[in-house]
Amino acid sequence: MTLVRFHKADGTFDREAEGEPGARLLDVAWAARQPLEGACEGVMACSTCHVIVDAADFEHLPPAGEEEEDLLDIAAHVTRTSRLACQILMSEALDTLSVRIPPGARNWSR
Ligand code: FES
Repeated sequence: MTLVRFHKADGTFDREAEGEPGARLLDVAWAARQPLEGACEGVMACSTCHVIVDAADFEHLPPAGEEEEDLLDIAAHVTRTSRLACQILMSEALDTLSVRIPPGARNWSR
């Protein structure tokens, strides 16, 4: 299991959750009732699953593909360590992963 620490937009800690190896961060976030919209549910047609990854953890992620980079170009509040949660897969190398949910409109119904 990969432990994920979710932080609110202001950087304060929110909660921890665990993800099975190979699970998408987007699904772990939804299970942990994080306000990530993920409008296209991972088919790379939106950028509403944007998260800001802790700088140290960011170094352990495989590089973003061209399609992900293009979608991040249209996301709000992008930083140097921004990624799409639907493209991050849980693995031992990521334990413990810290991410911050960016500010902005989100789907709170999940
Ligand atoms: S959910 Fe749409 S790109 Fe990640």
